[in-house]
Amino acid sequence: MPTALGKVPAAAVRLHQDHYNFLKLLNVLRHQQRLLAAGAPVNWDIERGAISFYRRYIGQFHHRLEDAIYETLQARAPEAAAQVENIHREHRSCSELLECFEGALILISGSTPVTRKSGEHLRQVYDQKLYDHYCFQLDEFVARERRHMSDEEALLSLAVEHLSADDWRSISQQLSEGDDELFGEKRVARFDRLREAIFAADQRPQRVE
Ligand SMILES: [Fe+2]
Ligand SMILES: [Fe+2]
Repeated sequence: MPTALGKVPAAAVRLHQDHYNFLKLLNVLRHQQRLLAAGAPVNWDIERGAISFYRRYIGQFHHRLEDAIYETLQARAPEAAAQVENIHREHRSCSELLECFEGALILISGSTPVTRKSGEHLRQVYDQKLYDHYCFQLDEFVARERRHMSDEEALLSLAVEHLSADDWRSISQQLSEGDDELFGEKRVARFDRLREAIFAADQRPQRVE
């Protein structure tokens, strides 16, 4: 991320770090999906935790920080207006996809799987329609989020290029520090299982998806 300021502003670093953390969450969701496909037991609290974190942290902090940066960028580089508009539209569709994914999760996690023997192993098999619906919604959500973050990283680079030190100072002053209860210092116990899953995912060799 090149910058006219000599170093990357703290607000931009924070946004980038958030995106990196969100990618970790998406990797965990993908791993859960693989467990499900293999018929292994799934702890649904991990996914519930991921959705709850997404909604709360993004709504209360991440989008407010992005809005402040993009608004300033529009003023400094009006040619970026169309890209900013596009990001606002994506925020609406990402939040709709999160709702749809949550709906699919509620349906499958509230159902009872059938246990089947497959060779030496016992497999947990869920209703095919619920399973397909869940996989479809998860795929849609993960793909859209990945695309969205990649678009935002491009916009963030543009902001780092065009915004002045005063702009970044005023953006930081407008916002109170967001409470990141999953990755930050104010960690809460209800995300313990999710945190363990993220740690385990970090230890596994990365897969290209
Ligand atoms: Fe965003
Ligand atoms: Fe973002």
